Amino acid sequence: MPKHAQHIPWWQDAVIYQVYPRSFADADADGMGDLRGVASKLGYLKDLGVDAVWLSPFYKSPQADAGYDVADYRQVDPLFGTLSDFDDLLTRAHAQGTRIIVDLVPNHTSDEHVWFQAALAAAPGSPERDRYIFRDGQGPNGDQEPNNWQSLFGGPAWTRTVNPDGTPGQWYLHLFDVKQPDLNWDNDEVHAEMRDILRFWLDRGVDGFRVDVAHGMVKAEGLPDWSEKVSMVQGTEQPTVHDTPPYFDQEGVHAIYEEWNAVLAEYDGDRMMVAEAWVEPMERIFRYVRAGEMQQAFNFGFLLAGWNAQNIVENVTETLAAAAVVGAPPTWVLSNHDTVRHCTRFGLSDPTTFPKGIAAQDEQPDEDLGRVRGRAAAMVMLALPGSAYVYQGDELTLPEHTTLPDECRQDPSFFRTGGVERGRDGCRIPLPWAAESPGFGFSRAVDDGDAPASSGSEPWLPQPDSYARYAADQQVGVEGSAFELYRLLLAVRADRELGRGRLEWSRQNRPADGVLSYANGALQVLANLGAQPVEVPADLEVAVASRPDAVTEDGFLVPDAALWLLPRA
Ligand code: BGC
Repeated sequence: MPKHAQHIPWWQDAVIYQVYPRSFADADADGMGDLRGVASKLGYLKDLGVDAVWLSPFYKSPQADAGYDVADYRQVDPLFGTLSDFDDLLTRAHAQGTRIIVDLVPNHTSDEHVWFQAALAAAPGSPERDRYIFRDGQGPNGDQEPNNWQSLFGGPAWTRTVNPDGTPGQWYLHLFDVKQPDLNWDNDEVHAEMRDILRFWLDRGVDGFRVDVAHGMVKAEGLPDWSEKVSMVQGTEQPTVHDTPPYFDQEGVHAIYEEWNAVLAEYDGDRMMVAEAWVEPMERIFRYVRAGEMQQAFNFGFLLAGWNAQNIVENVTETLAAAAVVGAPPTWVLSNHDTVRHCTRFGLSDPTTFPKGIAAQDEQPDEDLGRVRGRAAAMVMLALPGSAYVYQGDELTLPEHTTLPDECRQDPSFFRTGGVERGRDGCRIPLPWAAESPGFGFSRAVDDGDAPASSGSEPWLPQPDSYARYAADQQVGVEGSAFELYRLLLAVRADRELGRGRLEWSRQNRPADGVLSYANGALQVLANLGAQPVEVPADLEVAVASRPDAVTEDGFLVPDAALWLLPRA
């Protein structure tokens, strides 16, 4: 880079691939993905062309919420391997130029964390209890919850403890599962410990952190009642929350991110933090990425927009405007481990709906329709300026498991809502790597190499039979596959520096008719989310098409397809 050139941190335009370690690749064939499994697939990720990997939690945990209940922030859970497996993964990733960001879960610990165990053993009012949010109950015997808050997973957000002598004791707050007690961020020790945990992973060399429930750590003074329920994921089928809950998006959280920003600044290499903050309106999300706080925040509005041109155009317009105000990069995401996969959502009769999981008795998606729309959606997203997130399997247009038997379900939100919410297991199914192998090649006895796939144990969640057609070995190197489409899109994106580009809506953009069109430099994106064919401008030629039959002989883009176009030479 010439000396005078402006330094652009890597995260400004990075494509970041989310690995959900339980379900990515299983090297020791115990049915559960692991860090050696991730390492064995680094070549695949390099091939795909992503810049970085975000690893969902792999820390020591009783796995009450799939690892988002951390018992020891400095240990790898034996399910996933060892610290030296982590170091090896990081070294190998860095050697091939892939960055690694890890998940940080600061709102709550596991109830099996030593701090919480010490708090239970200590008396009310003790320093041990002050690290969490313990309160006396209401009513004459203290047998009513301290306030009316509901857990995001359903049911009350408070659980009563039992004193050492067997009598009922104080209550503790858990915004999520009963096994996830909330930390008290008014306590200095909590601040010091979390800074130390950041340093522990920064010293090992991680490139950044995805910050879990980044809007949740500070609670309003006095813990006032609040009767609305906020779900895990705000779907379009529930009324928009206009009031801010007293446990989310409180002003005080920003001081924490200033503190952490200073910690990251002690390290070289543009370390970053990305906020998982389900807040609205848009301007409030961007308050998390003001100078001196975090570097990125997830744009869940884009994920919620569904297959709808108007929603997408509105979200993109608002996002770019809000990002420009604070000078942070916009981010884009279609799926993650908490939401029904977009290829499935886009195959529902209303492709803007946002179910909280899907079961056999619910409407089943049109899988083929979802798949072609998923390809087109990737083309809409990956030419946008900023940073994009890809959830493992998106590149295979992997669908949700929509008929998972209830007895297989593990998500606490399924149990805490009595099954009303089907939960998030369907988007967490182990990846299919090889169509003909047991468990679709998820479990292998050895890394890479040419050893035969081992049958090992059953995958921790069963895979639907349809996964055979999506398996990586049916797609890598196969012309016209979704994987090859993603690979091409990422290569063109990198080559043309689209992530650093600027968006301009094209004259053809007519979202009310389902036509979405924008330019980023010389590249024009044309997507047809409507029902009528759309004319392809004669002065442009197709650089990438979402599917081979996207353009008719007389030059029209068919519905549910997208193009990347360039001026004719
Ligand atoms: C994570 C979820 C998790 C919750 C509690 C989130 O937002 O993404 O998977 O259940 O935080 O930690």
